[in-house]
Amino acid sequence: MTRESDANPPVPTTPAAPEWGRAYTAPDITVYFDKARCIHFAACIRGLPQVFNTDARPWIQPNAAPAEALAEVVRRCPTGALHYALASGPAEQPENTTIQVCENGPLFVRGDLEMAAPQGSVHDTRMALCRCGASHNKPFCDGSHRSSGFEAAGGEKLNQG
Ligand code: SF4
Ligand code: FES
Repeated sequence: MTRESDANPPVPTTPAAPEWGRAYTAPDITVYFDKARCIHFAACIRGLPQVFNTDARPWIQPNAAPAEALAEVVRRCPTGALHYALASGPAEQPENTTIQVCENGPLFVRGDLEMAAPQGSVHDTRMALCRCGASHNKPFCDGSHRSSGFEAAGGEKLNQG
């Protein structure tokens, strides 16, 4: 028998750190980074360069901005490489489901997403899905569309960093 709660699983409020990557912790917020899903879109660096600084070690400095501002920039990451957990505050809520076609690149998907991936089921709010076939992390884009010279007319010209 399927219960309502099984049919509509909530977005987890406590991140599974191994799934979400390395943790960068400040008193009010923990930011998680999954390198395998980062395609160097750079929305994070443009949004809060004092936090996301590839010249610094570690490259994420979660103390360098208010937690709410940091969470807002994390939500801009279109690939799901970045997540956050506030020490006291709500978990990220899924947006209405949308699919954005990136010219010569992936599909950016947002929503309450459940992906049956080869590496296991992935429940997330943001994903970048490969449509060039060259990714080594399918079904997720890993940026290989650039080196493979993938071209697909149409879609939006999105800044991919
Ligand atoms: S994919 Fe996400 S984490 Fe990677 S550079 Fe872009 S915004 Fe930052
Ligand atoms: S679309 Fe990015 S690796 Fe295929």
